[in-house]
Amino acid sequence: MDGQTNLRSDKRSDNQDLLRETTTHSAEETIAFGRTLAQLLAPPKLVLLRGDLGAGKTTLVKGIAAAFEAAAEEDVTSPTFTLVHEYRGPRANLYHIDLYRIDTQRELETLGLDDLRSDNSVLLIEWGEKFPRLVRERDVEIALERDGENVRRITITDTAAL
Ligand SMILES: Nc1ncnc2c1ncn2[C@@H]1O[C@H](COP(=O)(O)OP(=O)(O)OP(=O)(O)O)[C@@H](O)[C@H]1O
Ligand SMILES: [Mg+2]
Repeated sequence: MDGQTNLRSDKRSDNQDLLRETTTHSAEETIAFGRTLAQLLAPPKLVLLRGDLGAGKTTLVKGIAAAFEAAAEEDVTSPTFTLVHEYRGPRANLYHIDLYRIDTQRELETLGLDDLRSDNSVLLIEWGEKFPRLVRERDVEIALERDGENVRRITITDTAAL
């Protein structure tokens, strides 16, 4: 079943069960899934994006940012070096964060992520699971697993719904 079909059928269940798991078969499908997923991410939210290098975390953020009208898909790029990208939309300020190169609690603190958290902010954090505090404080976790060249299994855990 492709991601689109899965989403449509899931929509009939209540919001808590929305989008629990899907499989995509291309980057474009993952972006489309990100657009649909955005409805689960009303601010304030701290979202952890889990998955290996190249799993599709940044690709998913393209769809989320587009749905929030905060950035065009092609303008969402990996914050590998800058660590934090900010995309302001009419309904939320998105912060796309990549902690791959951050190794210590002290380095994390210098990023000042707490200052970014506000009633209208959505933090989308790659490699955040390296830090127990972020794991504790996350609202939603999205895990992407590679299942072949272009296939990704995407699982959503909505902590608030647990
Ligand atoms: N179904 C798919 N979903 C998402 N990306 C896919 C899919 N199939 C192929 N790809 C490709 O996989 C790559 C995913 O890269 P992306 O930068 O999104 O990964 P990432 O998880 O953010 O990695 P990193 O940890 O290095 O930042 C892209 O080149 C994309 O085109
Ligand atoms: Mg990335």
